[in-house]
Amino acid sequence: MIPETAPKEDVYVASAKFSKNALVPSFEKYKEMYMKSIENPDEFWGDIAKDFFWKSKHSGDFLSYNFDVTKGEIFVKFMEGATTNICYNLLDRNVHEKNLGNKVAFYWEGNEPGDELTVTYRELLQKVCQFANVLKSQGVKKGDRVSIYMPMAVELVVAMLACVRIGAVHSIVFAGFSAESLCERIMDSECSLLITADGFYRGDKLINLKLLADDALQKCKDKGFTVRKCIMLKHLSKEIEEGSQSPPAKRSCPDLQQEGQTGRVKKRRPVPQLPWNPEVDLCWHTLVKGASDECEPEWCDSEDPLFILYTSGSTGKPKGVLHTVSGYMLYAATTFKLVFDYQPDDVYWCTADIGWITGHSYITYGPLANGATSVLFEGLPTYPDVGRMWEIVDKYHVTKFYTAPTAIRLLMKYGTEPVQKHKRDSLKVLGTVGEPINPEAWQWYYNVVGEKRCPIVDTFWQTETGGHVLTPLPAATPMKPGSATFPFFGVVPAVLNESGEELEGPSEGYLVFKQPWPGIMRTVYGNQQRFETTYFKKFPGYYVTGDGCRRDKDGYYWITGRIDDMLNVSGHLLSTAEVESALVEHEFVAEAAVVGRPHPVKGESLYCFVTLTEGVSFCRTLEVELRNLVREKIGAIATPDYIQNAPGLPKTRSGKIMRRVLRKIANGERELGDISTLADSSVVEQLFQNRSCTA
Ligand code: PRX
Repeated sequence: MIPETAPKEDVYVASAKFSKNALVPSFEKYKEMYMKSIENPDEFWGDIAKDFFWKSKHSGDFLSYNFDVTKGEIFVKFMEGATTNICYNLLDRNVHEKNLGNKVAFYWEGNEPGDELTVTYRELLQKVCQFANVLKSQGVKKGDRVSIYMPMAVELVVAMLACVRIGAVHSIVFAGFSAESLCERIMDSECSLLITADGFYRGDKLINLKLLADDALQKCKDKGFTVRKCIMLKHLSKEIEEGSQSPPAKRSCPDLQQEGQTGRVKKRRPVPQLPWNPEVDLCWHTLVKGASDECEPEWCDSEDPLFILYTSGSTGKPKGVLHTVSGYMLYAATTFKLVFDYQPDDVYWCTADIGWITGHSYITYGPLANGATSVLFEGLPTYPDVGRMWEIVDKYHVTKFYTAPTAIRLLMKYGTEPVQKHKRDSLKVLGTVGEPINPEAWQWYYNVVGEKRCPIVDTFWQTETGGHVLTPLPAATPMKPGSATFPFFGVVPAVLNESGEELEGPSEGYLVFKQPWPGIMRTVYGNQQRFETTYFKKFPGYYVTGDGCRRDKDGYYWITGRIDDMLNVSGHLLSTAEVESALVEHEFVAEAAVVGRPHPVKGESLYCFVTLTEGVSFCRTLEVELRNLVREKIGAIATPDYIQNAPGLPKTRSGKIMRRVLRKIANGERELGDISTLADSSVVEQLFQNRSCTA
C-alpha cells in the first residue's frame, strides 16, 4: 500500500515553485485521490467523464469485470451503453466547445532540419473529416479493420482518427517492421484496406515503404488473403518530382506525374521507383481532393473496439491487443494530464513512434484529448548530429519531454557538450518509458538535461495497459532514480510469490494487478483464449504483467525486468521464440535458442545460438545471411547482435533448453549455478569455447 507519508531521505523532490501550480500538488493530495479512485471508481471516473462529450449516457454498471478464470470468462466493461466518438472528443469538442480551433495541435518536424509543418486543431479536424469521407467512399464501415503502415507524418494521425471517426478499427504497424510482419498482422486482423506512404528517410537511409507494402500484400495473396485497396500518401513526392535521376516508371502513381503537389521534404535525394497496381492502389491526394470536410461521427458504444495493436507474444506469434472506446479515452487523457502535469501553454514532445503504444496514447490520444500542442518528430536523435533533440526543444520551447532510456543512454555517450550547447530553459518535466532506467542514465537526464530543475516521471506500463500504471506524479511523488514509484489512479498492484501468495512489505516477485482500470486491454483480437491464458491463468484473480518487481521499505515499486521469454531491446519487446523461428527458417539451421545479453545503450541485445544441420560449417557468410533473414522476417529492430555456433544446446533430460545457462554463456559468466539437471553437461564447455568472437 501507499505509505502514510512520503519518504524524505534519498529522494528527489520537485521545487516549491513547480508544485505550487501543479494539478496534483502534494503526496497527500495524490493519496487522497488514489484512495477515492480505488474505493469509488464510479465517482472518480464519472467526474472525469463529465468533461467529455457523450451522445448517450451509460446504462447499468459503471464498471463490471471478472479477473478470475475459475469463475468464468475474463471480461472488463466500462461505462457500457454510453455512446461517444473519440475523434469528436479530440477534435470537434476542442474546436467548437473549447474554442481551440486556432491552437496548434502539431508542430511536425521532419527528418531533415528545416522540414516543418504546423497544423491547428481546426485544420486537423478538416483533414480528418475529408479522409474519413474517403474511407467511407472506399466502402470502409464501422467495425472494419484498417491497417496503417506509415512514417511519422501528420497524415498518420489523420488516418488513425479518420478510422475512429467512422467507427473503423485501426491496426497500426510500425514502419520499421518487415513486409512479412506486416502481412502477418494484416491477415490476423483481416484488414480490408491498407494505408501507406511512398517512403521516408531515417537519417540518410531511404525506407521504401510502398515496395514493402506491395511485398506484404503479395505475401497475403499467396496465402489466400486479399486486401481490397491500398491508399498511398505521397510523403516524398517533392523529391520524386525534383530529385529523380531516372524518369518515373511507366506504372507509377498517376498523380505523381500530373500535379505539382507540395511535398514537405525539401532536400533533394535519390527516390524510389514506385510500382503501381491500378486495381489496388489509390493515391491519397487524388481521393482527398474531392472529399467533403464535413463528416458526421459514428456514435460508438463504450465497449466497441477502438484499435488493435500487435505486441510480441512468448509463443512467437504477435498478439493483437484490443482496446475499446471510452475506458481507453478517459485513461489516456487522464494519465497524460496528470503525469505530465499538463498546462494549457505547454509544448509537449514525445519522441516515440506512433507505431508503438507510447505513440498511440501519448502522441495522439492523450495530448489531443487535452487540447495540447505537441511536436511530432519524424527523425532520429542523432541526425544530422547528436544535438538534434535539444535543438528541437529550443526551437519549439518544449516544456514536457518524454523519451526512452535507450535514447538517453545513446546521447550520454557523446558527453554533455551537445546538450549544453542548447538552452533547454523551457523544459519543466522529463519522462521515460519502455524499460527500466538505470540510475546512471536517470542522473544524467536529471542533472544534465533537466539541470536539476525538472522532475522525472519514470512511467511503467505496457501495450496491454493502455496507459501509465506505475508512475510518479511530478509535483506529488518524491523520486527515486530507477523506480517507477507508485500506482496511478485506479490501479492496485501486488507482488506475488511463485505460489501466488501476496507478499507484504518489502518483497520481490511477480508484478500483478488486482482490479481493472479503464484503459486495460479487453481481449486478444480473435483469440480470447490466448488473452486468458497469457494474462490470467497463472494466478487466478490477477492480471499478470510478465514483469518481475521489487517493493522497497517505503513501498516504492522497482521493475526488475521480464520474467517470461521476452526481451526488451531499445524499449521494444521481442519474443525469443519469434527470433528463433526466423532463424530456423534458414535451410542450414537445425535449432536455435535466443537469449538477452545486457547492452550499454539498447538495454538488452540479442544473442543467438544456432545448431547447424549435419555437415554444414559455421562461417561469416552464414552469419550475415542469418542476420538478414531475421531482419527480413521481423524487421531491423530484431537484428541479432551475436550469432554463435552451437553444436549442442544445454538441455534438460526432458529436452527443455536451459536458457539460464545460455544467458550466462552469452555474458561470459562462469558461475552457472546448479546444472545437475543437464542431459549432457559437456556442451557447456564447448559453448564457452565457441563464444561469439565479438562477444
Ligand atoms: O517490461 C516492461 C517494459 O516494457 C514492457 C512493455 O512493453 P510494450 O508493451 O512494448 O510497451 C512499452 C511502452 C509502454 C513492460 O512489460 N517497461 C515499460 N516501461 C517501463 C518498463 N520497464 C521498467 N520501467 C518502465 N518505466
